[in-house]
Amino acid sequence: MKIVVVGGTGLIGSKVVGILGSKGHDVVAASPASGVNTVTGEGLAQALEGSSVVVDLANSPSFKDEDVLEFFATSGRNLFEVEKAAGVGHHVALSVVGTDRLSQSGYFRGKIVQEKLIRESGIPYTIIHSTQFFEFLGGIAHSGSEGETIRLSPAFFQPISSDDVAAAVANYTLAQPQNGVVEIAGPERVRMSHLVQRYLKAILDSRKVVEDAQASYFGAQIDDDTLMPGAGAHLGSIGFDAWLARSTVSK
Ligand SMILES: NC(=O)c1ccc[n+]([C@@H]2O[C@H](COP(=O)([O-])OP(=O)(O)OC[C@H]3O[C@@H](n4cnc5c(N)ncnc54)[C@H](OP(=O)(O)O)[C@@H]3O)[C@@H](O)[C@H]2O)c1
Repeated sequence: MKIVVVGGTGLIGSKVVGILGSKGHDVVAASPASGVNTVTGEGLAQALEGSSVVVDLANSPSFKDEDVLEFFATSGRNLFEVEKAAGVGHHVALSVVGTDRLSQSGYFRGKIVQEKLIRESGIPYTIIHSTQFFEFLGGIAHSGSEGETIRLSPAFFQPISSDDVAAAVANYTLAQPQNGVVEIAGPERVRMSHLVQRYLKAILDSRKVVEDAQASYFGAQIDDDTLMPGAGAHLGSIGFDAWLARSTVSK
C-alpha cells in the first residue's frame, strides 16, 4: 500500500514512517524538506499519485495565532483537493485531546479548523486525539516562563511518549477509517505543574514552577477535566520515569 506521511520528517512523522516502512508499505515522507509543501501546494499532486492513505502529521512552524490558523486552513484545503483527485481512501490526522474545549487558544482554533475541514472533506477519515507528548514538556515550561519562575496550572493531564503515539498512529493508519475521533493517552494521570517541575529537575534546570490555577494553557483557561481523555482512550505503556530513562534529555 502506498502511504503518504505529511510531516514525515517531524517527531511523530519520522517514527510513523519507520514503523510503516518496516511492515513493507511504500511510504513517502512528505514535507518541505523533500519538496512537498501543503501551504503552497508545491509537490503535493506528485507525492500523492497512487496513494491509498494520507497521514497528516504536519505542524505549523509558527505558533502565532494567525499563522497557525492560516497553516491548518490552507493546508487542509490544498490537501483535500489533491486527495480527491488522487482517489485517496483514508485520511488520518493527529490532533489533541480536548481540542473542542480549548477554543480560547489561537493554536487550538487552528486545530478546530483542521478537524472541521477533515469532517467536511467527504474522504473517509480517522482523527486521533492525543494527550501532550512527554517531549513537549519543555515547550509547556517555556510557555509559562516568567524569568526564573514558571507559572503553570496544576490541572490534571495524562501525557504520552512519542513512541506510544507513533505506534498508535501506525495501527490506526492500517485499520479501517473510523469516521470519527479516537483518543490516545499515557498510562498515568498527573498534575501539569508537578510533572513539569520533575522534568526540570531531571534536566538540571533550577527554575521553580509556581502553581496557579488561573494560569492559561496556550491562551486557554483549563480545569482538571479539560486535557483529560475519556474512559475509552487507548493507553500507551511508557510512563514518565521509563520515558526519562530512555530519553536523551536528562543525559
Ligand atoms: N506536541 C504535543 O504534545 C502534541 C499533542 C497532541 C497532538 N499533537 C499534534 O501532533 C502533530 C505532529 O506534531 P510533531 O511534534 O510531531 O511535529 P514536528 O516535530 O514539529 O514536525 C512538524 C512537521 O511538519 C512539517 N511541515 C511544516 N510545514 C509544512 C508544510 N508547509 N507542508 C508540509 N509539511 C510541513 C515539518 O517538515 P520539515 O521538517 O520539512 O520542516 C515536520 O515534518 C501536530 O499536528 C500537533 O498538533 C501534538
